[in-house]
Formats: sequence, C-alpha cells, structure tokens
Amino acid sequence: MDLFDKLENRVSPLGPFTSQGYGYYTFPKLEGPLGPDMKFNGKDVVVWSINDYLGIGANPEIRKVDTAATEKYSLSAPMGARLMTGNSDEHEALERELADFVHKPEALLLNYGYQGIMSVIHCLVDRNDFLIYDELSHACIVDGKQLAMGESSVFKHNDIEGLERQLQRAVSRMKPNSSILVVTEGVFGMTGDLGKLKEIVALKEKYPFRLLVDDAHGLGTLGHDGSGAGTELGVQDGIDIYFGTFAKSVALIGAFVATEPRVKEFLKANARSQIFAKSLPLPIVVTARERIRLIRENPQWREKLWENTLKLREGLRNIGYNVLPSESPVTPVLTEGSTELCMTIMRELRENYGVFVSGVAYPVVPKGMVLIRLIPMATHTDEHIEKTLKAFEAIKPIVFENVPEKAATA
Ligand SMILES: Cc1ncc(COP(=O)(O)O)c(C=O)c1O
Repeated sequence: MDLFDKLENRVSPLGPFTSQGYGYYTFPKLEGPLGPDMKFNGKDVVVWSINDYLGIGANPEIRKVDTAATEKYSLSAPMGARLMTGNSDEHEALERELADFVHKPEALLLNYGYQGIMSVIHCLVDRNDFLIYDELSHACIVDGKQLAMGESSVFKHNDIEGLERQLQRAVSRMKPNSSILVVTEGVFGMTGDLGKLKEIVALKEKYPFRLLVDDAHGLGTLGHDGSGAGTELGVQDGIDIYFGTFAKSVALIGAFVATEPRVKEFLKANARSQIFAKSLPLPIVVTARERIRLIRENPQWREKLWENTLKLREGLRNIGYNVLPSESPVTPVLTEGSTELCMTIMRELRENYGVFVSGVAYPVVPKGMVLIRLIPMATHTDEHIEKTLKAFEAIKPIVFENVPEKAATA
C-alpha cells in the first residue's frame, strides 16, 4: 500500500480535535501583543492559554534588548553546531548564569527542550541500564525512553511505593555495569501538582540511582528565588540533572540542563540533537541572559503571579468547580463529559464571554473527563479574573448538564 494513502486511515490521537477544529480548537491564531488581552478571530479575548507566566514576553525593556541584539549580531549568527562553529562567549556566559540561578555547578544549553531532553535521556541510558519514569511524564520524556537502549518501566503518577517496587526490581537485575536513571517532573503541566521530589530524593538513601527532573513549569514560578520545584521542596541538591526550558517563564525558545561538570562534559560530546544541529542564535542567547537577570531581580512578578493564581483558583472553587489540588500556577478545571462538551465550553467562553481557554478530553485525559486548563500570568488584573469568573459562573448549566447535583446549584 502506498504510504501516503495509508495515512488517510490512520486515526489521529486527538481525534475530532485535529480533523474538525483547525484554526479554532487546534492551531488557533492569537493576535496582537503577547499578554492577557489579545485578539482571536477579530474578537478581544482575555487569554488564559499562554505560558508567559511572568508576563515578560511583552516587557518593553526586554523588547529593546531583543532589537539591539538582533541589530548587533543578526538572527543568523553563529552558524553551525556549538561543537563546530556555533559557540560564543555569550552562550558560555548564559550557561554560567543559568547554573548559578538554579544552584548547580554547571549548565548546558539545549537548542530546544524537547529534542534536548530526549537526547540527554538517550545518551545517558545505555543497554545495561534501567530507566524508570512517572506515567504522567511529558511526551519528550516518553520519546527519550523510545530512544534509550536500556530497559524502561513506569510507575503510577507520584506513587512512591510503586517507584520503590520498580527500583527493587531493577536492583535485583542489575549487572556490575548497570545504572538506574529515574525521571519525573517538577510540576505536572496538565494537573499542576508537583512531583514528589522529597520522597524520591529520600529513596536515594536506599537505592543507587540518579534523578533527572523536568521542571519546565517550575522554573521562574516556584522557589523563593524562582529557581524551581527543587528549591520549593528543599531538595535541589538531590536532583542530579535539572532540566529547564525557556518556553514558559522565560517566554523564549531554548532550554538547558544543570548538573555536575563531568556530566556536562559527557553530554557535550554525546547529546546528538545538540552535536548535529545549529546552535541558538546570538540574539536569543543575549535576550535569555537579560530575561534571567530580570526574573532574578523582580521577585514581585512571581508574587503577583501567585496572587492571581490564588484569586482565580479560589473564585473557581467558590462557584463550584473542581480545580484539583494544584500546587503550582497551572490551574486545571476538571469536569465530567465528552469531547463535544470540551469543545462547547471553549466555544461558549470565546464567543459569548470573550475568554480564551484551552481544554483537552480523551485520550489526553481518561474517557468521560474534560480538563480545561488556565494559565495565570503576572500581568492578569483583577478585572481579567472577575470577567473570567463571571463567564465560568454563566456557563455552569452547560458544564454541569449531566452532573445533576451541580446543575441544581447552577
Ligand atoms: C514538561 C515539559 N517538558 C518539556 C517541554 C519541551 O520544551 P521546549 O518547548 O523547550 O521544547 C515542555 C513544553 O514546552 C514541557 O511542558
């Protein structure tokens, strides 16, 4: 059969979302300056779907830095992979600053988080090793597992006893040159709960393993200084490889891992997605340095983010929504229903109330569940929050149509 003909019959994992929803439910186009007030399909909307937690994407100071760096260096430079011709003093300075920010001896820049972490897992885990990861891990970790040569297993989400069983099993089957890598997340991006890092780090007393934490949503939002979930939970030292991306709080592209010098040296020579790909453009590196500096110098952005998060969450809870026990700014609203209900909620909010949210249904969440995710930003105001709460109040009869006791209070 022709390969392309076959594609027509392949079911997309996101089902009707991808086939029916182009430009609306999938690939929507938000326009205007980045922030809580943007345009969608020509309408003004309050946006709760972009991960610019600290609101720095539209910061005028940063935009000036972006322009000046682009004029100075061009978007092309440097050409080549870092290993060949793509290195610069700026890249190395950013790595030192990132390491300092997240309290690790060294950091290694990655062109993109997704490919970067896949490569890191791939090159760390050889055929004699064991990889154990949380079942709710991001797709980049699951894909890293596909590449890794060793044996892999999952533990149920945040189930420490389950992890311990997997560790016992791995230990019982280890050869003299076998090692174990455990991978989890600092913040789980859909549900907002934190990885049980304290408990996992405590297991290091009993079992020989190294811990890699993907802290995409924790960097900049958690910890007294914004250095993430490890700091928040008091176990940053117990994380052997800390992964952060610029795609959320830094509102940019690029990522890094922070670890000890010998591991960085190994990754520099072995992480294939970095060795065989062009390095980050200099203006990106220059603006990343500035953004990290500003994030460190402006803790009030993080405080405002949290103030907004708590107001939004409390408000949603008060009007009867299940916001799950999220411990990060990620604010999930979980309800019962079908893919159609998920689409109806998004459409109602966008069309009738000027509120832009994103939602997911099966197979991203279990069948019969709908999860609407709101991402607060430091730049949301009380008016944005009030407008959104009013909208959620107004759509209760639709959301709880099939949930009798909730509908009765609507
Ligand atoms: C938990 C998590 N890990 C990794 C990534 C990938 O990072 P990047 O966007 O830098 O490729 C994302 C998405 O951005 C993410 O949410």
